[in-house]
Amino acid sequence: MQLSARTVRIATSATMKVTAAVDRLRREGIDVIDFGAGEPDFPTPAAIAAAGHEAIDQDYTKYTPVGGLVELKRAICNRYRVDYGVAYTEAEVIASAGGKQALFNTALALFSAGDEVIVHEPGWPTLAEQVKLADALPVVVRTPAETGFAITAQPILEAMTTRTRGVIINSPCNPTGALMAEEELARVAKEASRRGIWVVLDLCYEKLIYDRTPHNLPAVLDRHCRDLAVICGSASTAYAMTGWRCGWTLAPAAVIAAESAIQSHATSNVSSITQKAAISALTGTQEPVSLMLDEYRRRRDRIHEWLTADPRLRCQKPAGAFYLFVDVRTLLTPDGAAGDDAGFRTSADFAEALLQESRVAVTPGEAFGAPGFARISYATSMNVLQEGSRRLLAFVARHAPAAVSEVGRG
Ligand SMILES: Cc1ncc(COP(=O)(O)O)c(C=O)c1O
Repeated sequence: MQLSARTVRIATSATMKVTAAVDRLRREGIDVIDFGAGEPDFPTPAAIAAAGHEAIDQDYTKYTPVGGLVELKRAICNRYRVDYGVAYTEAEVIASAGGKQALFNTALALFSAGDEVIVHEPGWPTLAEQVKLADALPVVVRTPAETGFAITAQPILEAMTTRTRGVIINSPCNPTGALMAEEELARVAKEASRRGIWVVLDLCYEKLIYDRTPHNLPAVLDRHCRDLAVICGSASTAYAMTGWRCGWTLAPAAVIAAESAIQSHATSNVSSITQKAAISALTGTQEPVSLMLDEYRRRRDRIHEWLTADPRLRCQKPAGAFYLFVDVRTLLTPDGAAGDDAGFRTSADFAEALLQESRVAVTPGEAFGAPGFARISYATSMNVLQEGSRRLLAFVARHAPAAVSEVGRG
């Protein structure tokens, strides 16, 4: 069977594999602690859900304009004006089926064969895969664990060549929770402006920043490279709306026109019902957003404290998103045989054994281009976090008894 070259180029989503493994075990009646989930556990806030119900009751169930209702476009522009002080018009915004489609449209609209596009790793794999789907070449820059995976300008500037067409920045970053500082983005934006390179911002976790860190990245791009700035956002994590599928792109009108053309031949409009709910989310009170953020912060602090009580599970407190990105390298014996009880060769082996033996699902760092790490989602209840932490610590103690006694001696 001959499939297209592009399907051979791309890798399947490793995060989805974890979800599938959890589902399989649960169907067998096995109690699994799921730290793999990449979505809020909260229900969609009631007022937003009610707007969706009302849309159905009023038979608001037909096609809408491809790029979304004018009311939704205005709501998105207004949110960014209020939150960041940037001005976008209706011609400069399109609503899509989640941040994922917004980013995919962007890749298809901006990149072609032979183009290089800079992405950072550890990172969300979809960004690089979408670049490949657009026939372009992802160029990976590493963000080091030693600096908390901070996304900085220097390696990005050093990776720029005459073939570079774009840079994609995800801040807060999945899986590390790290941010890009405004001044670092400014350095990238200035150079991008000089060279005519697109700067794409994936702001899908923009509402999940725990401390009062300056993070007005849209204004930075506005100031230094407005004509080359593309901002992708989403209602998914901000409003606990992952299943509704609503995201957006803010960009120069020509980019939005290209994305609308692409979307018109792919999926057309975001579900009409979802659009009504998203309008309610964006224009209504933002209190649910801060209540969820407060709860995520409590969870982050607790699970971080629990897990790092064992010094072999090293990780910094994330500044944003809802993941701990734990360094498990001291638990690995790269030269040992797989499954050797003296340890695990890779973080993928570690994650697999943890799931099979202790029924705790984590996503191995390999999924994010970062072997030696494990991503733990704390978008789940405190009880589940506590039980999962207990199992994880016991698992580590069982498999690395020598190190335990060292800790005891220290
Ligand atoms: C970094 C990042 N960007 C964008 C998305 C897209 O999410 P959605 O399509 O639900 O808006 C995700 C979802 O996992 C993500 O992790």
